[in-house]
Amino acid sequence: MNRLRVAVMISGRGSNLRALVNACEDPTYPAEIALVISNKRNVVGFEESLRSGIPTRLIGPTRLIGVSDRGRFAEEAQKILLEHDIQLVALAGFMRILESSFVDKWRDRMLNIHPSLLPSFPGLHAQRQALAAGVRFSGCTVHFVRPEVDSGPIIAQGVVPVHPDDDETSLSDRILQLEHRLYPRTVRLFAEGRLRVVNEKVEIAGAVPPKVHAENPEDILVSNISPEMPGRRAVGE
Ligand code: GRF
Repeated sequence: MNRLRVAVMISGRGSNLRALVNACEDPTYPAEIALVISNKRNVVGFEESLRSGIPTRLIGPTRLIGVSDRGRFAEEAQKILLEHDIQLVALAGFMRILESSFVDKWRDRMLNIHPSLLPSFPGLHAQRQALAAGVRFSGCTVHFVRPEVDSGPIIAQGVVPVHPDDDETSLSDRILQLEHRLYPRTVRLFAEGRLRVVNEKVEIAGAVPPKVHAENPEDILVSNISPEMPGRRAVGE
């Protein structure tokens, strides 16, 4: 099997990178992590990746590539991605804004994961934003990347409840568990060639919409909703 060659770009802890690497350990998984790029040296993700034996590269900040030098960064990243025959770029907690011409080069071949139900709460501290807004549900989104931060055609989303006693840490943890499932599944869809962007919306070949919906505050997870059917069936009851 020819596996899709994926580069993961990180800036920190790298737990989504780990989830992707774990998924790739299954010999039937259609992708492999062929490269990791970090823009920070002293972070868990970078250190772990170096130890794991995956080709791992650090890009700046250096004397040559300043913190805000997007052009230089993009040039260097593009060179390394081509050297490694990368077919898909997955941003996973990558905290640097990418130059738009670089993003355009990877149009519909670059993914990002964000800890909110986009287009709500883009940018930094998405979970804090969700708590401040008082939403009852939040979650995570995997999308194709466009130049504007956390924007682009949505591929997959996962939903979690927001608990009344949640703080940023507890909500982030709950969302993160879901991220670790959703990202590998989305990369699989891409690798299987099932994603198509049509008018900036993503079509997924063979996917059926979820048959479940959730309500709050009753905490009822309902399936098979029909207007004629006044009774509700709670999933798992
Ligand atoms: C995740 O919450 C991801 O959604 C966001 O940054 C965080 C990265 O976490 N973009 P990790 O580095 O993958 O652990």
